[in-house]
Amino acid sequence: MSQDIRYLEAACYHAAPGFMEHLEGELPEPYRRDGELLTVMGPLREAYWTRNVWRRPFTAEFGSISEAAKILRGLQRNWAPYPVKLARRTALIAESLPPLPSKPKAFPFRVPGSPMGAFTLLDEHTLLASAECSSPWPNGELGFDEDKEGPPSRAYRKLWEALVMAGSMPGPGQRCVDAGACPGGWTWALAGLGAEVVAIDRAPIDDRVAAMPGVTFLKHNAFTLKPGDIGPVDWFCSDVICYPPTLFDWVSTWLESGLARNFICTIKMQGKEWDRPTVERFAAIPGSRVAHLWHNKHELTWSLVRDAPDGLALREIPDHRVD
Ligand SMILES: C[S@@+](CC[C@H](N)C(=O)[O-])C[C@H]1O[C@@H](n2cnc3c(N)ncnc32)[C@H](O)[C@@H]1O
Repeated sequence: MSQDIRYLEAACYHAAPGFMEHLEGELPEPYRRDGELLTVMGPLREAYWTRNVWRRPFTAEFGSISEAAKILRGLQRNWAPYPVKLARRTALIAESLPPLPSKPKAFPFRVPGSPMGAFTLLDEHTLLASAECSSPWPNGELGFDEDKEGPPSRAYRKLWEALVMAGSMPGPGQRCVDAGACPGGWTWALAGLGAEVVAIDRAPIDDRVAAMPGVTFLKHNAFTLKPGDIGPVDWFCSDVICYPPTLFDWVSTWLESGLARNFICTIKMQGKEWDRPTVERFAAIPGSRVAHLWHNKHELTWSLVRDAPDGLALREIPDHRVD
């Protein structure tokens, strides 16, 4: 089988939905474009505006649909189709492979251990695929079993996603700050995990969230509060709408204070452009990560999680089986 596979000295970058232009600006030309997938020769490059990166792409020639499925299945179980050309043929190959989970996932859970690959067709008889991908979700897509009653906004999904990806989360006995908290989705999620939350916003918070056990609301400009005004926190969370440098300066004061252990912050872009220099300053903070999460819009998530993974016992989800 292995003689059918030709590994490329390249990586394929699948753009975050709606952000193809940003991704094109991040990657050097020339690149090959298949739908929203850019293949760039050479080593793996840092690119933030992706939903998934195919880290070890290969091409493989095949005759029939079952032969294509056999090549992929011979490498691993999980393969997400990315149909660009020959959508029907791509779907038929996917149908010949083990099924992927389709049910929304109930938070919290652990990132599945088994890898998720991706493939597309270059022509009727050529696969482009990678068994190693940056995202554990098919084409980067993650669907939560949402709570339609409790949270006053759907923004909590991006905090859930950041926590799942960190493999660690706040729990009882821990203290969090949630800056830019209103209407209260993130505070709802943090308090729902049993943590104490100091929620800060200039706007009012949802009454039901304010009444949750452990929630204290401060109606204040977040940036005029110093770390010492709030005191030590296990988790520093921010979803404040502001210019990225303003967030960077405020986060820097927290880092220097040593009063926060873990950080999850949304870096929100203003207008159509994105602030690459500030994103790079965030990314240069040792031990941290900047990514476009599936639930992010025109924003990136910066996280610095120092607590060991699985700080909270997470319910296991079975590896990519149909539940
Ligand atoms: C996107 S919303 C946050 C949504 C929230 N995370 C949730 O889950 O519901 C951004 C918030 O930042 C707040 N904000 C903007 N500037 C602020 C500042 N200087 N201090 C505190 N809050 C601020 C806004 O009032 C707004 O409520």
